Amino acid sequence: MDPSKMRLMGLMTILLFLGIASELGSCKVVQFIFGDSLSDVGNNKYLPRSLATANLPWYGIDFGNGLPNGRFTNGRTVADIIGDKTGLPRPPAFLDPSLDEDMILNNGVNYASGGAGILNETGSLFIQRLPFSKQIELFQGTQDLIKNKIGTVEAKNFFEESRYVIAIGSNDFINNYLMPTYRDSWTYNDNSFISYLMTTLEQQLKQLHSLGARKLIVFGLAPMGCIPLQRVLSLTGKCQTRTNKLAVSFNTAAQKLIENLSENLPNASYRFGNAYDVVEDVINNPHKYGFNNSDSPCCSFGRIRPALTCIPASTLCPDRSKYVFWDEYHPSDTANEMMATEIITRLGFLPTNKTSPPSEAPTAAPHSAPAPATATATVPAPAPH
Ligand SMILES: *[C@@H]1O[C@H](CO)[C@@H](O)[C@H](O)[C@H]1NC(C)=O
Ligand SMILES: *[C@@H]1O[C@H](CO)[C@@H](O)[C@H](O)[C@H]1NC(C)=O
Ligand SMILES: *[C@@H]1O[C@H](CO)[C@@H](O)[C@H](O)[C@H]1NC(C)=O
Ligand SMILES: *[C@@H]1O[C@H](CO)[C@@H](O)[C@H](O)[C@H]1NC(C)=O
Ligand SMILES: *[C@@H]1O[C@H](CO)[C@@H](O)[C@H](O)[C@H]1NC(C)=O
Repeated sequence: MDPSKMRLMGLMTILLFLGIASELGSCKVVQFIFGDSLSDVGNNKYLPRSLATANLPWYGIDFGNGLPNGRFTNGRTVADIIGDKTGLPRPPAFLDPSLDEDMILNNGVNYASGGAGILNETGSLFIQRLPFSKQIELFQGTQDLIKNKIGTVEAKNFFEESRYVIAIGSNDFINNYLMPTYRDSWTYNDNSFISYLMTTLEQQLKQLHSLGARKLIVFGLAPMGCIPLQRVLSLTGKCQTRTNKLAVSFNTAAQKLIENLSENLPNASYRFGNAYDVVEDVINNPHKYGFNNSDSPCCSFGRIRPALTCIPASTLCPDRSKYVFWDEYHPSDTANEMMATEIITRLGFLPTNKTSPPSEAPTAAPHSAPAPATATATVPAPAPH
């Protein structure tokens, strides 16, 4: 054969191969997760001075080898479960020392940090945490790494195809506004505080859009006045009505904001996933959902309440799958599973099937899943008594 023809064919083969490789290779759909302890998969483990950590037993007892892994629950987070059920890989913690470009391209990144809020000042009692704004800043750093690795055009494509999950806000109440030690508690009233949160969140979501986030979901808050820590504030052990009302107001305002952004930002598909009513029903009717307890933590320190974190000396409930709450703040694996499943079903996402292969572009990416957002972060929340 004519050598020049052979060279041409070789060149075409290479071009074809590169074309396919770029399409199949770097277009893998991954998630970037932002949030607080409800989604933290280990970032705070690497913050040496953070008081919001889940580094001791019995955290993680129902996950992998059963040792603490940084998650603030006994098993999986809601984001873990929704990702699993929609065929998306679990993103590693941003601060995981083994994180590199290949890992990011194949799995995404999780920036969630226990104690974090929408506001920078939220959770300052925990000393170290990564507030949402900081998480976005770190995401920018991640983008630079990826641009250097695969080039600007491919990177733009990669970040626009990725799914973004934002689950944050309960700490802005529980570990800020509702605590008299924080300035915001006396600077704002309920309405002006929620406006302040919305203005801040709007800027943050617009910034993420400017960085390429197109498919994004923001989780609503759960009835956070019903977390065990809030119940012990009253003698009767009832849910804190005011706290729940704040969660409802937050959800209403956030939904409006996100729908508006989705309409007005170019190519944005921003969704608000609100599971408030489902979680409320589970808390009011635990038996209907197979639970036996929805008002106290499975991991507790005898009669001493609130024991602000689950520690090795704590006692575990006999059946962890029967408790809605794992500790004073966080839902158990079973509650997380129930919420994730319920939400996926309700919103008509992927009929999940473990046997079906994860498709290239999971139709029901997390981009559609809401979550429970109870509070966040363990430890020294100066509880009123
Ligand atoms: C919040 O912190 C980020 C840095 O993480 C900073 O860029 C931003 O200006 C801060 N926002 C406010 C309102 O102070
Ligand atoms: C949506 O946002 C635009 C621009 O930010 C604003 O002018 C408009 O009033 C908003 N609409 C609603 C329904 O909130
Ligand atoms: C929106 O999508 C269209 C079609 O894919 C594209 O040409 C355009 O550049 C996108 N705009 C933005 C701001 O992403
Ligand atoms: C439910 O809780 C009650 C009281 O805590 C206990 O007596 C009962 O055995 C529990 N039932 C199940 C099925 O775990
Ligand atoms: C889902 O998986 C089950 C087996 O686990 C199978 O029987 C069923 O047909 C599958 N459904 C779909 C829609 O693929």
